[in-house]
Amino acid sequence: MKYFVLLLLLIAFTGCSKQTVQSINTKFPHGQKLYLSKCGGCHRLYDRGEFKPEQWDTIMVSMRSKGNTFIPERTRVKIFIGIV
Ligand code: HEC
Repeated sequence: MKYFVLLLLLIAFTGCSKQTVQSINTKFPHGQKLYLSKCGGCHRLYDRGEFKPEQWDTIMVSMRSKGNTFIPERTRVKIFIGIV
């Protein structure tokens, strides 16, 4: 029983860690929220420090449509501000 609880905790923690970003622009909570909700579905959430602002700019363009998900320009701009 004790191990079962531990296992559950382990699953809960590893499940959550996928959605954590170490640093994100806290001045724009709206963009941040959009980033968490729109960008974490297909892959892990990349940290803003992993790319330079110019790189984020290009990434935003290429993430416009992946699969069947379309993220409109306005939303992407907000997300971009929220990250960079
Ligand atoms: C429908 C799925 C999907 C969504 C939604 C999505 N991505 Fe991606 N993303 C991918 C795939 C697939 C790759 C890897 C292949 C590629 O780069 O084309 C990727 C790669 C990336 C990379 C790595 C690029 C590199 O050069 O290493 C970053 C950063 C990224 N995405 C950011 C974002 C951001 C920010 C958003 C939200 C605006 C987002 N993604 C939304 C599918 C998605």
